[in-house]
Amino acid sequence: MSDSSTEQRSLNVLILAAGLGTRMRSDLAKVLHKLDGRPLINHVCRTATALAPESLYVVIGHQGDEVKAAVLNELDGQKVAFVTQEQQLGTGDAVNAARSFFQDSDSTLVVLSGDVPMIRPETLAALVQHHHRYLDRGAACTILTVRLHDPSGYGRIVRDDEGAFERIVEQKDASDEQRQVDEINAGIYCFDTKKLFSALSAVKNNNSQGEYYLTDVPELLRKAGEDVAIFQFNDAQEIEGVNNRAQLADLERILRRRTVSRLMLDSGVTFIDPKNTYVSAQSVIGRDTIIYPNVFIEGSTEIGSGCTIRPGSRLVNAKIGDGVEIRDNCFITDSEVENGCAVGPMAHLRGNAVMAEGSKVGNFVELKKTRLGKGSKASHLTYLGDATIGEDTNIGAGVITCNYDGMNKHETHIGNRVKIGSDTMLVAPVMVGDDAVTGAGSVVTKDIDANALVVGAPAKKIKDLQSGEEKKVQSGR
Ligand code: UD1
Ligand code: MG
Repeated sequence: MSDSSTEQRSLNVLILAAGLGTRMRSDLAKVLHKLDGRPLINHVCRTATALAPESLYVVIGHQGDEVKAAVLNELDGQKVAFVTQEQQLGTGDAVNAARSFFQDSDSTLVVLSGDVPMIRPETLAALVQHHHRYLDRGAACTILTVRLHDPSGYGRIVRDDEGAFERIVEQKDASDEQRQVDEINAGIYCFDTKKLFSALSAVKNNNSQGEYYLTDVPELLRKAGEDVAIFQFNDAQEIEGVNNRAQLADLERILRRRTVSRLMLDSGVTFIDPKNTYVSAQSVIGRDTIIYPNVFIEGSTEIGSGCTIRPGSRLVNAKIGDGVEIRDNCFITDSEVENGCAVGPMAHLRGNAVMAEGSKVGNFVELKKTRLGKGSKASHLTYLGDATIGEDTNIGAGVITCNYDGMNKHETHIGNRVKIGSDTMLVAPVMVGDDAVTGAGSVVTKDIDANALVVGAPAKKIKDLQSGEEKKVQSGR
């Protein structure tokens, strides 16, 4: 085969993700267990797309609907198809489930394991390149291998006296001598598609697990006179498989360490105690931001520069501007905090809450689907839900938007420079005009005009405030 034709050879990817993962001792299919907050299978699928394959197939079985949903969520509109393996009879059987799509295809098939999540796109690309290099000589299969200090649990690569590939022996089928071999099968391969399926027909399940092993295919190919190449890689961490919870925790630790190092070295973020800070790989954090221990930054959170995030806070899909101080024990999810704000301690922002520039939220304050305008403050013990609050408005201690009537949610709109007195109940739907004031303990059931001073339960207007008149009503600042 000429070089030009190898370049044109189409590339397909098949990911094996049908197994239960017995060693996880879980009711959840293994590939749905999360690493860095995302299911294992999502990591592999994301990496596979970087190869820009002509087609991407995922073999599903255990909790197939859930695995499918996870993959579709990750790939969001990108091309992917699913094949169901009815019974989990082994990795060879899993590949066989996709036979009808591929067996006549004159192409290269990359087979990936759904439980080997750390593999990088660059490594896969190098494997494919290595495989295609050997096509002229007719390599039917290229196996990604690595040498490990502790190879236990993996399939071992048995080489002949000349160092050429002979076979893969699974741990459970290996002799004591074979178990000494430290070169392992990563579970990641490139195949000549037609040759793979032709050899797969001859795979038997006469092994200790009674399974159809994909790992028997390379040996069968070699015995049929085909070339089997080995692409030996040097990063053991990248090819680590997840078969049990200890391995999952190991990978979590490795990933987290990488993320935190990258943020320290490349982005100039200070971590007071890197080992005790949890940052998702997708998060972005700006220069001179200081992160205290026991902070969790999850999902795709963005934090600007010069921020301080004090201990015990958890940020999930949050967008934080520059110069923001997040004090101890705050929970911010799907919400935005603009430049120069102060949050907490012990504040809760959720459901697309927005704190506009320079605004402040203090202890035991919850904002749900609420916009707090520029320079406005809600300093103590307050619930603001389904509300908009204008600029330079002060919300006193203990204020509550009573947004739920038992059936429906209603909105509260508060203008600019308003003072809402301590312990005011705003019974939504309700609007408060600019420069209005409510007295302490007011129960506001009707809209309030601009400049009005209201008091009582239900709140009544007692006065129109003149512009510039000092608003001394106890507003709980
Ligand atoms: C496999 C390899 C082993 C290799 C290791 C690398 C075989 C027989 N062994 O072992 O040589 O060192 O991976 O991590 O292939 N799956 C299915 N259907 C099945 C069985 C498995 O889809 O019937 C999927 C699993 O969901 C998983 C992947 O195939 O994502 C690998 O299966 P697993 O049982 O983890 O194989 P290992 O014992 O790790
Ligand atoms: Mg495995």
